[in-house]
Amino acid sequence: MLIKHFKGWELPDSQLTPENLFFSKRTLLKGAGLLGANLLMPTSIQAQGADPSSALYPFKRNETYTLDGKNITPENINGNYNNFYEFGQSKQIAKAAQALKTRPWLIKIDGMVEKPFEIGFDDLIKSMPLEERNYRHRCVEAWSMAVNWSGFPLKALLAMAKPLSGAKYVQLQTFLDTSIAPAQKQSWYPWPYTEGLSIAEANNDLAFMVTGAYGKPLANQHGAPLRLAVPWKYGFKSVKSINRITFTDVRPKTYWEALQSAEYGFWANVNPAVPHPRWSQADEEVIGTGSRVPTLIFNGYEKYVADIYKGMEKERLYI
Ligand code: MTE
Repeated sequence: MLIKHFKGWELPDSQLTPENLFFSKRTLLKGAGLLGANLLMPTSIQAQGADPSSALYPFKRNETYTLDGKNITPENINGNYNNFYEFGQSKQIAKAAQALKTRPWLIKIDGMVEKPFEIGFDDLIKSMPLEERNYRHRCVEAWSMAVNWSGFPLKALLAMAKPLSGAKYVQLQTFLDTSIAPAQKQSWYPWPYTEGLSIAEANNDLAFMVTGAYGKPLANQHGAPLRLAVPWKYGFKSVKSINRITFTDVRPKTYWEALQSAEYGFWANVNPAVPHPRWSQADEEVIGTGSRVPTLIFNGYEKYVADIYKGMEKERLYI
């Protein structure tokens, strides 16, 4: 996710280096190698304090979604190889992400809805149909994992929000607080991290609001207390630590699209036949195994989502 349009004098070297390097294959391998060393974050640090929603876990598994032969990535590997730019541009941000305070956590629902409202995370989770799902997770950087998520279908939240019939998109935003996420002081990035889906995508069964992973509340580095998982799209669409959900008839300008639209578009559906402008998307490194496997169209979820895009061939669906 190199930010090509910035001039050298606009970014200090310390900011330039990770962006330039961390999407190259060599750095990915180096990053995976580091996982084998002593940088792993013990899970005890991840689960700081008592989470008020702990007693709800584990949720019942929805067996509809299978991994087709892939294995769940071990929790300690997944929890130590993250993208969460609010806490830095390294993959090892688990420790820094502990600064995130996840209670109280209010989620604002606004824009084109019958009646805007705010709801606390613990009230929201209690009113949603909770379940576990195993999902593949494919990053635009050409690596993948498989994760045991807990949460609820995004369409259940849409039903609660009651969008007006004119709403065409839902925008999902991360918190903005430079006192806990100092990287958000970098004014050349379009904070807060913003993502969006069409209403048809948001109402698709696969679109999942994640509250937990591996049978317990979400660790901070995964985007506690509430994140999105849209596994047919590149991972950057799955916005973390959401505190605002806005319905609109205008397509939202997303974080990466605002930075570099030629490389990271709005739709960002996984397609091995459409390379990123600077690297192939034909295969992916399976984190924690050292192996590479072919990438599948829509990350293997074609039967669930292909219909959404019928008649939209003129859109840049795969960037
Ligand atoms: N959400 C926020 N707020 N900030 C981020 O930097 N990174 C995205 C996505 N959501 C990101 C984010 C990217 S690039 C990926 S691949 C996934 O989160 C990574 O999720 P994981 O760390 O749980 O694997």
